[in-house]
Amino acid sequence: MAGDEGVPCSVPKSKARQLFNVFFFAALVMVFSFYLLFSNSSGPDVAPCPPYSNAASTRVRRTQLDLSACASYIRLPGMPLDAKGKCDIFSGSWISDPSGPVYTNYSCRFIEAPQNCMSNGRPDKDYLYWRWKPYGCDLPQFDSAWFLNSMRDKSWAFIGDSIFRNHIQSMLCLLSKVEEPYEIYHDKPFKCRTWYFANHNFTLAMIWAPLLVKADIFEDDDGKAKSEIQIHVDVLEEKWTSQYSKYDYVIFSGGQWFLKTMVVWESNGIVGCHNCKNSSIKEIGVDYPYRMALRLAYQFMTSSKHKPLVFFRTWTPDHFEYGEWFSGGICNRTSPYNEEQYTGKPVDHVMMRIEMEEFEKATATAEEGGARLKLLDTFHLSLLRPDGHPGPYRTFDPFGKGKSTAKVQNDCLHWCLPGPIDTWDELIMKMLVDEGEIS
Ligand SMILES: *[C@@H]1O[C@H](CO)[C@@H](O)[C@H](O)[C@H]1NC(C)=O
Ligand SMILES: *[C@@H]1O[C@H](CO)[C@@H](O)[C@H](O)[C@H]1NC(C)=O
Ligand SMILES: *[C@@H]1O[C@H](CO)[C@@H](O)[C@H](O)[C@H]1NC(C)=O
Ligand SMILES: *[C@@H]1O[C@H](CO)[C@@H](O)[C@H](O)[C@H]1NC(C)=O
Repeated sequence: MAGDEGVPCSVPKSKARQLFNVFFFAALVMVFSFYLLFSNSSGPDVAPCPPYSNAASTRVRRTQLDLSACASYIRLPGMPLDAKGKCDIFSGSWISDPSGPVYTNYSCRFIEAPQNCMSNGRPDKDYLYWRWKPYGCDLPQFDSAWFLNSMRDKSWAFIGDSIFRNHIQSMLCLLSKVEEPYEIYHDKPFKCRTWYFANHNFTLAMIWAPLLVKADIFEDDDGKAKSEIQIHVDVLEEKWTSQYSKYDYVIFSGGQWFLKTMVVWESNGIVGCHNCKNSSIKEIGVDYPYRMALRLAYQFMTSSKHKPLVFFRTWTPDHFEYGEWFSGGICNRTSPYNEEQYTGKPVDHVMMRIEMEEFEKATATAEEGGARLKLLDTFHLSLLRPDGHPGPYRTFDPFGKGKSTAKVQNDCLHWCLPGPIDTWDELIMKMLVDEGEIS
């Protein structure tokens, strides 16, 4: 019975133990390719906010932006209510919380080494003592027992990239306080995995589909690309579409993979590329493939007979400072930003804008057809947490005796566990309660 829930998707080549490198370097390459794009002349065709010209530099700018011009797609500081007059749980600030995390490096076995900041010796602990406080209401702690009891006989799928792997591990840590799940499926490289909570007949699946659409990816075990990605923006990735009807809840997102070097195909022909070396193919920008992929995913969901509750999770910002990943970038802050302090990199705004525009269009269609789409807008609250990343503590004791500090690579994209990403589960819980899905 449980085995049927498994996800038969397979990706050859990689080995499980090298997974992190794959995810990590993948994340890094794309950031780089974004900057390459913007140092070329052509850019996305959406109206800029902030101006795209800011992105030409490879240095991280921390200039103050005029956020009022971005109101159509991001949350402005200090707004407690959403458009329907309800408490906007995504608008708020991080407040001090002496009670700290509900699990630790030794109480949860699902934390993978690269995110296990405690075990890897991260010296500062302040990043663990913050809680998200929406302006207009409170966000309750995640109630694992309540969640599992409400989810009896139900199943969830997380569709996306390594940020979802990070997120699902957070959820596994929270839920395993009540019941220890076991893994009922994994593909060869451990990218698609399914866990089962037998006492609650509850299934949680991670489906690896970083681009949502069909793509040929030519990366070796270390995530180094032998050739550009060939992305087909008019064909969805079967790994998730073939499984879609199995799940009661689906959470998905686009993400940083869209910043990579790629050749873009449509109707079996090349329509452009992003950052590729072949000068006879026109530069198409990062925005076009991203928009098309999201649009196609929504079309599938809104026209599907199966109507799970679908959450779209918004863009995850990185926090490299003093350079980028390839030029010694680090994230050594030890506390959250205030809202006035940091408004994100231009790339964050480009991608957020596309996400909001496509979500809004999809919601209109969804309402007609009975599909249920919800926005899990983690962008703003994540943006304010430069202190939540592993940084150098993605490896054990990075500055230990005999280790060369010159070689330390920082991860300022994924999140420490425990850490700010645990809040994402609290937001989901609150949304489920508000939707009347659980009571
Ligand atoms: C957990 O982290 C602490 C440091 O914060 C460390 O002393 C301890 O060895 C770690 N435990 C495990 C099981 O990794
Ligand atoms: C577990 O849940 C599935 C639906 O997801 C249901 O078909 C099955 O009968 C349940 N099994 C048990 C033992 O309750
Ligand atoms: C560049 O792209 C064109 C058009 O797709 C193709 O015909 C040509 O072989 C490519 N050149 C190289 C060096 O890959
Ligand atoms: C972070 O690193 C920069 C550059 O090395 C340094 O100037 C700054 O003082 C550091 N900040 C903290 C909080 O350690």
